[in-house]
Amino acid sequence: MSQPATEWRFIRAFAAHFARCGLHEGEKVALLSESQSRHALVETARLAAQSLGGRVFDIVVPTPPSAHPVPIRSTGASQAIAHHDAVIAALVHSDLVIDCTVEGLLHSPELGRILGGSARVLMISNEHPEVLERLGWDDDLPRRVALGHEWLKAASVLHASSDAGTDLTVQLAGGFSAGSTGLTDGPGSIAHWPGGLVLTFPAAHSVQGTVVLAPGDMNLTFNRLVESPVTLHIVDDHIEEIEGDGVDAILFRSYLSAFGDRESYATSHVGWGMNQFARWDSAQLFDKRETWGTEARAYAGNFLYSTGANETAGRFTAGHFDLPMRNCTVRLDDRVVVDHGVLAPELAP
Ligand SMILES: [Fe+2]
Repeated sequence: MSQPATEWRFIRAFAAHFARCGLHEGEKVALLSESQSRHALVETARLAAQSLGGRVFDIVVPTPPSAHPVPIRSTGASQAIAHHDAVIAALVHSDLVIDCTVEGLLHSPELGRILGGSARVLMISNEHPEVLERLGWDDDLPRRVALGHEWLKAASVLHASSDAGTDLTVQLAGGFSAGSTGLTDGPGSIAHWPGGLVLTFPAAHSVQGTVVLAPGDMNLTFNRLVESPVTLHIVDDHIEEIEGDGVDAILFRSYLSAFGDRESYATSHVGWGMNQFARWDSAQLFDKRETWGTEARAYAGNFLYSTGANETAGRFTAGHFDLPMRNCTVRLDDRVVVDHGVLAPELAP
């Protein structure tokens, strides 16, 4: 029997989330995808939006040629629109853009223009629909994420540590911070689904210390659990040395060196996960092409350190690692927000 394009259970889960993002009868809904988009996501999104009475139209652009010596993953900076004025015009005049591009529009060069009109954008992570269905929803998540974000904005220093050896200090002044709830917030807003993340893009000259990736941590670019320790020595925002003998350290060094720049070694964003339904281990149950590994970016109590582009610090590159870590302690000044991988009670469900 052939595989169905989608399932009612997925459509129902997507429709429920679109409804949370305010999709209602008669809205103009642009379904943006590219030739390499996950077919099941696009089909599920289309039917779900239609089920709510959305006036759906498709914009499908060709996936652009690879511009890099290695595959690019989890940058959130889709290049698929390629500054196409007609595409941008259609998106600007929509009420809701459902973003099914592979990398997503979050950091795409056209996002500012798209959000300058009446549209709000819901970026759907490039996951198997089963992941998005399983994660479900917690009505209290937006409040908890907002609280964590308030704490982050009010703090001066973020410090992360672990028994494995992580000891990282991030000065927060001048950084750009955000709390990802998963929900759009009216015209001109963008949301990333699934939500449950608080993070900051630190200003230049703010990050110093050591990050140790331990077994069970994840490198989202490889969509692979770390199996052998990798020690990153970070000086003035940049990884100066990658220590480790295992294949994880070898891959780390090899991939970043492919870009031939210094920015790939710099700090992109730093934060922690808050989604209690997301799991660190679930991607291991799928073939690699079936998921994007982004569920691991949001699981509750992870410490997320990322390398690569950071607009706030004026650094641009396509090299990007999201590195969610387990069993870390994260402090904002004297306040513990994550204690050995467990969210502080105020932030927990
Ligand atoms: Fe990232």
